[in-house]
Amino acid sequence: MENIKENIYPVFDRMMTRKEKEEMLGQRGLMVWFTGLSGSGKSTLALALEHELSARGILCKVLDGDNIRSGINSNLGFSAEDRRENIRRIAEVARLFVDLGVVTIASFISPERSMREMAAEIIGREDFKEIYVSTSIAECERRDVKGLYARARRGEIKDFTGVSAPYEPPVAPALAIDTAGKTVEESVNEILSLVLPLVSSH
Ligand code: ADX
Repeated sequence: MENIKENIYPVFDRMMTRKEKEEMLGQRGLMVWFTGLSGSGKSTLALALEHELSARGILCKVLDGDNIRSGINSNLGFSAEDRRENIRRIAEVARLFVDLGVVTIASFISPERSMREMAAEIIGREDFKEIYVSTSIAECERRDVKGLYARARRGEIKDFTGVSAPYEPPVAPALAIDTAGKTVEESVNEILSLVLPLVSSH
């Protein structure tokens, strides 16, 4: 049998390093990982953060639950096993972006500590900043933007986080934000204080 490796010719002498990419962009790669219940405000904060960083010339990318689940993870549901695989793939994708020097913003419930640990492990602990959107279930349910809590309470959606599936809050997040009684601007300013010093190139 022919040796497959013999037929592969690297185009470049070496892959360019992350440092070189970061120098090109004039910023540092970072993972901003939002976790919290459905309706807690993760996506709103992720998008607002993207706008604020972009306005400062910082290249970033938002990875969001509903988008990822209709694309790369369209074959996954909400069993504990599928959620774990969801997070594993997201972390692998995020790692590629961070390696490009991009500020990568993930917005997923990521309900178990062990899943977020796995993500931190894949991406690299140094680069991983966990932000807990700690809005209470009562408030999320009151908002019920997508009408999913009402359906979950009626038993029409099984394994719904906070209702019939667990959520484990982070023990030591880089930041915790309760969006109740706060404007988006106030929340994003808190996040910017954490993120900006970390992404500015030195
Ligand atoms: S995760 O648990 O695997 O991290 P992810 O963030 O991707 O979840 O998706 C959560 C979104 O899927 C929710 O905001 C909601 O719109 C929708 N969803 C549908 N079914 C469920 C469910 N059983 N539990 C939680 N969210 C669900």
